Amino acid sequence: MEVVIVPDAETGGRFVAEGIARLVGLKPDALLGVATGSTPLPVYRALAALVSGGEADLSRVRIAQLDEYVGLPARHPESYRSVLAREVLEPLGLGPEAFLGPDTTAADLPAACRAYEQALAAAGGVDLQLLGIGGDGHIGFNEPCSSLASRTRIKTLTERTRGDNARFFGGDVEQVPRHVVTQGVGTILEARHVVLLATGAGKAEALAAAVEGPLAARCPASALQLHPHVTVVADEAAASRLDLADYFRHVLAGKPAWQALRPFGPSDGAHGSRARPGDGHGRSGTGSRVSIMSSDRDPSASSKAPTVRKPFFS
Ligand code: F6R
Repeated sequence: MEVVIVPDAETGGRFVAEGIARLVGLKPDALLGVATGSTPLPVYRALAALVSGGEADLSRVRIAQLDEYVGLPARHPESYRSVLAREVLEPLGLGPEAFLGPDTTAADLPAACRAYEQALAAAGGVDLQLLGIGGDGHIGFNEPCSSLASRTRIKTLTERTRGDNARFFGGDVEQVPRHVVTQGVGTILEARHVVLLATGAGKAEALAAAVEGPLAARCPASALQLHPHVTVVADEAAASRLDLADYFRHVLAGKPAWQALRPFGPSDGAHGSRARPGDGHGRSGTGSRVSIMSSDRDPSASSKAPTVRKPFFS
């Protein structure tokens, strides 16, 4: 697991967006797994800026939905279909044909879940899955104690998650659906590359459990420890509970050229075959253009002294 600590959410968004643009440069019709919620918005804004600035051509990418509420009409402004149309498809100039998602209005939801799994496989599998993390450690809407082998299915949200998402429904938790369809943990683990983005102090505990805690269904995000190609991008606040934060910074600061940070390399292998350990590493290349600053403090400096910042790659 590669952990990249960035100074703030916007820097993280640009870093991930430039990585996605680089992946799409190598595979123009890449299938991008997209999350909703607040966390990925800086990524989508940065991607749109790259496209409008002529720095990236995403005209052939396809996007795959991670999860969806059950019970909201597709045209409801807070259905994740609507959110993704607004935040991703339209700003990137993509049409509805670029979108893959489960039909959560179907009468037979289990069949719709199976059909979505088949559609993902038929599309060649997800090349890069972007994830946020719930305060309770969920990924997608796989709430605590979800099977780590689960596939796309119906889940019941915890009251904590409903409360967290009430902000999208005018603060009224009663408007937040109780049920969702979500890609399973096992489905997510089949993406060739998983990028978990975490921002803000509210994610610090869950992120520490996911990255450093035991592999446990209690924290579904900890299942990412089983995946050979995961990049965690966390801002300082979200990284604040990581015991190994200094080690992660040290690793990134000291990467020799042969081990350059290249988390967004081309995927090889068929859908369903996991990325091999070492994929994305050991190849020549320039890495991201976003200059991310490490925040290692000078040990001789007092705690009030300004943070010593040095770029660890550019
Ligand atoms: C949304 C999703 C969720 C969110 C998580 C964090 O599609 O799958 O797992 O990523 O609830 O939400 P935010 O980013 O709003 O804090």
